[in-house]
Amino acid sequence: MLVLGIETSCDETGIAVVEDGRMVRSNVVAAQDLHARYGGVVPEVASRAHVDLLHPAVEEACALAGIHLRDIDGIAVTIGPGLAGSLLVGVAAAKGYSFALDRPLVGVNHLAAHVYACVIEHGTLPLPAATFVVSGGHTSLLVMEADGSFRVLGQTIDDAAGEAYDKVARVLGLGYPGGPLIDELARQGDPTAIDFPRSLLHDGTWDFSLSGLKTAVLRHVQRNPGVKPADVAAAFQEAVVDVQVAKVVGAAIKEGLDTVLLAGGVAANSRLRARMAAEADSAGLRLLVPSPALCTDNGAMVAVAGSFALERGERSAPDLDADPNLPLVPGVGRRAARRPSRRQRRQA
Ligand code: KG4
Ligand code: ZN
Repeated sequence: MLVLGIETSCDETGIAVVEDGRMVRSNVVAAQDLHARYGGVVPEVASRAHVDLLHPAVEEACALAGIHLRDIDGIAVTIGPGLAGSLLVGVAAAKGYSFALDRPLVGVNHLAAHVYACVIEHGTLPLPAATFVVSGGHTSLLVMEADGSFRVLGQTIDDAAGEAYDKVARVLGLGYPGGPLIDELARQGDPTAIDFPRSLLHDGTWDFSLSGLKTAVLRHVQRNPGVKPADVAAAFQEAVVDVQVAKVVGAAIKEGLDTVLLAGGVAANSRLRARMAAEADSAGLRLLVPSPALCTDNGAMVAVAGSFALERGERSAPDLDADPNLPLVPGVGRRAARRPSRRQRRQA
């Protein structure tokens, strides 16, 4: 079965052809470098660029896979969460291909797609598994119970991990997207040079908070104009990773799980990958994480998630719509459902 994956939730036009739910025949990511000058994604610019880039990327993905578009057996598309206009471009295109080719269409949750990227290199996922999705818009600690089924343990009560990396990169004048630039710069810095806060480290929940850390970095840079940017990057990254590793490993142990799935753009972070591998190993946990290029947004993960959905018999109707706030678990929104306690807010 050949599935075409279409990913346009943010600023990457990702198109892929995946065979039998795992084998990536092609994976074209047309990155929009138009946003760097604004220091972040401009939604209107992103959706217009998707319109221009999408069909050529589909043609390129088919050519690289050595197939014709009519050889496709099904179409998978990200329907949310993400930017409304960007999602709409992908969904409209997917409906068009589905109608024109008379092939089944399936809408995919972007966060689930990130997790399914683990299948590409690791095969069938050993479930249930502790699952940590960290991206530009999300920080979610979950249990993946079964194929297509997740339970939320905790999430960010303010900024997403990628958002914090991007903001700190801006404070350091590094450019956009900031995550890979901080990752790179931090290698030359001393992670112990500055003692940044580890918010919610011992709060007894699986929630995360990064706005206090972000403010602490800003204040430190303003008060210490001579500070080495590499030290700020390394100390910031260490503070982020300390909490992430402690909570993810802690949750896996508490839930009695023996596997950890790590996914999303921030899972490309070299320090997170190294620390998580070491801590998982010493706790006797198996860690599955996609290679860095499959962590950031791409069409292959959408095609894989869509292949599993199609196998489960899921089909989307021709009136399929994008949902910018689509939750991974029905009824559980992007931010933590509950308001943070006063103590958590003070600590943050
Ligand atoms: O999953 P993704 O490609 O898009 C969203 O779904 O949001 O994640 C993008 C985020 C950006 O904030 C980017 O700065 C961050 O992932 N990122 C990283 C690294 N590579 C990408 N953050 C830290 N270290 C990295 N190496
Ligand atoms: Zn993403």
